[in-house]
Amino acid sequence: MKTTIFLFHPAFAHSRANAALVHNSPVEVRDLYQLYPTELIDVAAEQAALSAADRIVWQFPLYWYSGPGLMKKWLDQVLTAGWAYEGGTALQGKELLIATTMGGKLTDYQATGPQGHTVTEFLLPLTVTGEYVGMQVLPPFIVADTVNITADQLAAAAQRYHQRLLVP
Ligand SMILES: Cc1cc2nc3c(=O)[nH]c(=O)nc-3n(C[C@H](O)[C@H](O)[C@H](O)COP(=O)(O)O)c2cc1C
Repeated sequence: MKTTIFLFHPAFAHSRANAALVHNSPVEVRDLYQLYPTELIDVAAEQAALSAADRIVWQFPLYWYSGPGLMKKWLDQVLTAGWAYEGGTALQGKELLIATTMGGKLTDYQATGPQGHTVTEFLLPLTVTGEYVGMQVLPPFIVADTVNITADQLAAAAQRYHQRLLVP
């Protein structure tokens, strides 16, 4: 089982949460902002990396209830018709894990809370994209309240994440 993390963080040098999650990662990490500093994506290389993986992880900090800009560009350019859908079956049967970090508290992300919606609802476009191209979407991995999370809590979250990454 090959697992590859596709990491989208525009300011990884200043990251605390995502940096902790990929520190000593037991699986390959593709840092997309580092690979494409001018955002010119090598579509063939990305499709090859996706094809080689059995479990695909999209990891990113939640930005405006969604992912950072390069992630959307990457989805638009890499998941092409004839390759991922419309007759294309390249991603069919692979697993998809959506892993996100967020400044807000999970208790705020409830129908009755100040955000009015759950994180799972905000992740729907990504979830349905994965389903649309035939992937089996796993329950998301979420690290919330990054503003207040302690170093110990972050280390524990990273440990849980690595266990999820390594599930056979
Ligand atoms: C442009 C921008 C938009 C953000 N939008 C959200 C948001 O919609 N919801 C939320 O809970 N946190 C939001 N945040 C907070 C980030 O999710 C948080 O800082 C990040 O997950 C921390 O991870 P890091 O230490 O790896 O950078 C936003 C941060 C930035 C810079």
